[in-house]
Amino acid sequence: MAQYEELLQKLEEIQSNALNSLEKVETETDLQTWRTAHLGRNAAVMQIFTQLGQVSKEQRPLLGQRANQVKLALETAFEEREETLKKIALQETLVRDRLDVTLPGRRPIRGRLHPATQTLRRIFAIFAEMGFQIYRSRDVETDEYNFELLNIPAYHPARDMWDTFFTTTPGVLLRTHTSPGQIHIMRENAPNPVRVILPGMCYRYEQISARSEIQFNQVELLVVGRNITFGDFKGTLTDFARRMFGGHARTRLRPSYFPFTEPSAEMDVECFVCGGKGCSVCKGCGWLEIMGCGMVHPVVLQNGGYDPNEFSGFAAGMGPERITMLLHCVDDIRYFWGNDVRFLEQF
Ligand code: DAH
Repeated sequence: MAQYEELLQKLEEIQSNALNSLEKVETETDLQTWRTAHLGRNAAVMQIFTQLGQVSKEQRPLLGQRANQVKLALETAFEEREETLKKIALQETLVRDRLDVTLPGRRPIRGRLHPATQTLRRIFAIFAEMGFQIYRSRDVETDEYNFELLNIPAYHPARDMWDTFFTTTPGVLLRTHTSPGQIHIMRENAPNPVRVILPGMCYRYEQISARSEIQFNQVELLVVGRNITFGDFKGTLTDFARRMFGGHARTRLRPSYFPFTEPSAEMDVECFVCGGKGCSVCKGCGWLEIMGCGMVHPVVLQNGGYDPNEFSGFAAGMGPERITMLLHCVDDIRYFWGNDVRFLEQF
């Protein structure tokens, strides 16, 4: 009798002890430890089942029933605690990983083309529309092509216009302009007509300053054929300027001198910053110089393999960096090859 009461009493203690300690369980590992301790094979409540034989036959089912109730109560409490811990954990994750979906997104960093390349491609597109082919000529040239064949003999004072990088090989140099490409393209095509642009890097042995770099792009233009007139020349370049700078762009040809053209000119476009009134970009004159140009000199036609009595043509040379500077009011050419992303990112 005493044994039965004792065991019942013990069951009460087991239950309240277990439930008390369960309340303090905060983590998943502690919870599993608790389960082994209070519901495992060696748990106190399990021990009671092995002691059933110590009580009388009549009391045995009652004690067994009570033990089962305690076991069930512990199991239920365990499950509830497990649920609660999961909810707490979820709550914490939600707070920790809180996301404000109303925040504006971060812009992905996108690469872009170099401003000079952008201008080059616009120039290509315009001349392609006008039926020109694009031709690439070499960067390393001979004195013959860079000067002699362009009607600039060794003694000629016009050589002063191009400060040259010579290589250690006599007569070999870095091209100072894209004009030698004219001779290459004419010699490859004569006596067929040509209508090409020749883009590429040019090199000059100059003091680097806000206005001049030792390396820069040029786009050369060459048209040769029968009956090519000054009117074709002026019309083509005016049309180019309108497509490049806008339909209302006014242009003018100003007489100039180049050894490989006769007559020679420089083309100006009306300053698009001040509309021709005069500002700091056009230095008060209302016009911006955009290219050198002219009718191909008979000597150059001859050197290219065309009979100047039958053929005529026109040519021009422009600087994409210079045009970019005018379009975007960039006041220092050194930005172009300075590789400063703060500059490059603006285009
Ligand atoms: N080659 C000249 C220079 O670098 C630019 C130029 C002027 C090219 C007149 C031409 C031209 O084709 O006709 O200064």
